[in-house]
Amino acid sequence: MNLPNKKELIEFIASNRKHLLILTGSVVATILVTALLVNIFQRKAEGMHQYVRVADVGEDDTDPAKWGLNWPRQYDSYKKTAISTRTRFGGHGGSEALPAEKIERDPWLKKMFLGYAFAIDYRDRRGHAYMLQDQENTDRQTKPQSGSCLHCHGAVMPLYRKLGDGDAIKGFEKTHAISYKDLNKQLHDMGHGHAVSCVDCHDPKTMAVRVTRPGFIQGIQKLANSKTATPHLPSIEQWRADGRKGQYDPNAMASRNEMRSFTCGQCHVEYYCSSGFPLTFPWGNGLTVEQTEAYWNNTKYASGERFFDYKHKLTGAPVLKAQHPEFELWSQGIHARSGVSCADCHMPYMREGATKISDHWVRSPLLNVNRACQSCHKQSESEIQARVAIIQDRNQALLQRGGQAISDLIDAIVAAKKEGASDADLQMALELQRKAQWRLDFIAAENSMGFHAPQEAARVLGEASDYARQGIVAALKWRTKGR
Ligand code: HEC
Ligand code: HEC
Ligand code: HEC
Ligand code: HEC
Ligand code: HEC
Repeated sequence: MNLPNKKELIEFIASNRKHLLILTGSVVATILVTALLVNIFQRKAEGMHQYVRVADVGEDDTDPAKWGLNWPRQYDSYKKTAISTRTRFGGHGGSEALPAEKIERDPWLKKMFLGYAFAIDYRDRRGHAYMLQDQENTDRQTKPQSGSCLHCHGAVMPLYRKLGDGDAIKGFEKTHAISYKDLNKQLHDMGHGHAVSCVDCHDPKTMAVRVTRPGFIQGIQKLANSKTATPHLPSIEQWRADGRKGQYDPNAMASRNEMRSFTCGQCHVEYYCSSGFPLTFPWGNGLTVEQTEAYWNNTKYASGERFFDYKHKLTGAPVLKAQHPEFELWSQGIHARSGVSCADCHMPYMREGATKISDHWVRSPLLNVNRACQSCHKQSESEIQARVAIIQDRNQALLQRGGQAISDLIDAIVAAKKEGASDADLQMALELQRKAQWRLDFIAAENSMGFHAPQEAARVLGEASDYARQGIVAALKWRTKGR
């Protein structure tokens, strides 16, 4: 081989100085960039695993304090759900001791619920820390309640497994027939008398977000099995496209982003919860107000009678009670459609020192617009607040109109009865009361004052008022019958 001699080498360097400088420069730059990347990845890895498992947690560890030893930051923010918060329509507007009575604030609500326990006591919600205690203390407990209630208010999975000899779903299916008082005593005796806990949303081995609640798992499977389109839940569409093999399994098939909403959908949903049959989410036709109504209308009691929640005390109409359909209404909105999850707004990321964590102080995002909204929306905080206020004001105005319409309908039916109209004469009016109340309550019981899907909420309220007014016409028409 002909190696260059010293002179040749010097000449080569002299004539290629510029190139060599660039070469050396880029080698140095490459080394620096690589070092930086390595550093970033290390930091990221630290961020992901920035905990030491000082305590070994498993499926039966419902006490969040034990998990808090491993994940103190999340635990600290979780504990803050005990702090009372309020916004114009959110959080709780009551005293420190108890949230305000919704039924006193809106008298038409009370009138609508006459004949049902909600007419006795129905308050604003508050933070997760209170969920078990508020359920134990509500005056609705003066009527016997079913064990199904605990599904969403306590760390109930170990008890389900015990009742089902290891099979949680089997155990769950027994609990509607057990009284609330008995089941709650068993929960406390086993040492699981806690509010929603880490183990309810996280796999203790991997910390992946998961769903545990049988009501949700069965409900989302019914939704997957239905024909309705679910553009905001791509993993369901994928399972269908793959030939609907076996059952849709959210824990195995849903994307991480979907899980960030599913985990809340375990509880923030419409449901049936009494002793007639196990807790049920009415999702077999889809999630809209009409699809869930059709589901209830096609459900029959063992007696063969069409499903109803209560018979209205003044009119006798067999009506439905809607409960907090946050997951359902969110599903109809532009945020769900754009892949924005419950956790994006209600558990936004926050920085603590070098780590980025999810804020476990689950609360109104309006207390936290900077982290909850401005990550995506570049408007000022006051502009964002104003946009929400417009949506909520319009919704509130329509809701109050609907309330007046329902109240007028109830009066019209009562007056017709006094004048001698029979139930048969009033059948149409009573059916319209059921339809109108269901729609009105769907939006009244939903906790975002229309924000989760503004146009859908307005549509539903518009139809509620229309059905109520049609009902009044029907309650007047019987007089002209046969004339
Ligand atoms: C784009 C942001 C966003 C998303 C996504 C979102 N929410 Fe909300 N949510 C809000 C806003 C804004 C309010 C109104 C808060 C207020 O009035 O103080 C609200 C209100 C609520 C409330 C009542 C809060 C309170 O303080 O009383 C609950 C409960 C709730 N949302 C649950 C959910 C659930 C469950 C999901 C997912 C299925 C969800 N939200 C998705 C923004 C969001
Ligand atoms: C195990 C059932 C359960 C799960 C899971 C759950 N919640 Fe709740 N949530 C409740 C109950 C019950 C309350 C009302 C507690 C009370 O009033 O005592 C509540 C209250 C709230 C409130 C009102 C807080 C306040 O300060 O007024 C918000 C907001 C909320 N939940 C959002 C969410 C979000 C977002 C998720 C998912 C990350 C979620 N919840 C998961 C049952 C649940
Ligand atoms: C599918 C889940 C689920 C079931 C089952 C459930 N709840 Fe709740 N409950 C919630 C959520 C979510 C909230 C918070 C949102 C709200 O208040 O609208 C809540 C709020 C409450 C509150 C506080 C606000 C109020 O209504 O006064 C009480 C009390 C309550 N529930 C009692 C009960 C009782 C009694 C039962 C059984 C009949 C029951 N819950 C069954 C999910 C559930
Ligand atoms: C209502 C459901 C829920 C409960 C209860 C809950 N978490 Fe989370 N947690 C979440 C969600 C949603 C995320 C975001 C995960 C993601 O994006 O992958 C999360 C994320 C985390 C993470 C990953 C890092 C981060 O902050 O994003 C850790 C660690 C964690 N939670 C610990 C806990 C601990 C400890 C508790 C109990 C004190 C707890 N969680 C209770 C829903 C919950
Ligand atoms: C992860 C991103 C993300 C977050 C977080 C987020 N948004 Fe949005 N928002 C969107 C997208 C995407 C749209 C759809 C319009 C678009 O594509 O620009 C939207 C639309 C809206 C609209 C118009 C609604 C309509 O019906 O046309 C309002 C109002 C809004 N957001 C308010 C909020 C508020 C308030 C928060 C915080 C509580 C929030 N957003 C949080 C992404 C986000």
